[in-house]
Amino acid sequence: MKIVRASTNNSGLPFKGTLCPLTLMDLNELWLLDLRVFTEGEAYERDTFRQLLANPKIVARQIRNTEGKMIAFAIGLIEEDGVGHITTIGVAPEHRRRSLARIMLLSIEQGFAIRGVTTVRLEVRTDNMGARQLYEQLGYTITQRMRRYYSTGDDGYLMVKAINGVSWGF
Ligand SMILES: CC(C)(COP(=O)(O)OP(=O)(O)OC[C@H]1O[C@@H](n2cnc3c(N)ncnc32)[C@H](O)[C@@H]1OP(=O)(O)O)[C@@H](O)C(=O)NCCC(=O)NCCS
Repeated sequence: MKIVRASTNNSGLPFKGTLCPLTLMDLNELWLLDLRVFTEGEAYERDTFRQLLANPKIVARQIRNTEGKMIAFAIGLIEEDGVGHITTIGVAPEHRRRSLARIMLLSIEQGFAIRGVTTVRLEVRTDNMGARQLYEQLGYTITQRMRRYYSTGDDGYLMVKAINGVSWGF
């Protein structure tokens, strides 16, 4: 568990939260937050989350505010080929642009690196400019455009990053 002091919020007040592992015990809260984050039919089923969180190959993080409420989550999975896969990431709308996604991704990369992962991949909608910028800022590069990757028929980009060893840079 790690106390994070991220950027100030919109009213200029300092933000304090707790970064910690995301586990099956958090299932209900995760599912409810996901429904608020992904509003256009992209939210995961509760059972999908249950299966993911039960998988021993996941590296998952959440951030809780000072009242103990979950405000951000991210799930990474070490795939069969040894590549770390960021499967989902979301931040409550009222807590965005405070570096919470960046903090969670860096922590998951550390978790991956500790378990021998050297390459991380993720997918992003081609029109999700905010997420693309986040990933590019963290060193991910687009390697492929995937036609009709999403069930809605939208295209996605495959983005990849090489991670070398454990970085403690946040
Ligand atoms: C994408 C998402 C996870 C980003 O979370 P966040 O906590 O707001 O992101 P951060 O504050 O860590 O952003 C880090 C950097 O990424 C970029 N970024 C993040 N959101 C951005 C946006 N909406 N527009 C432009 N740049 C953005 C910025 O460069 C930002 O740095 P800055 O604030 O210093 O300029 C969040 O907007 C979200 O939950 N969106 C809905 C779900 C989603 O799209 N998930 C990703 C699916 S691939």
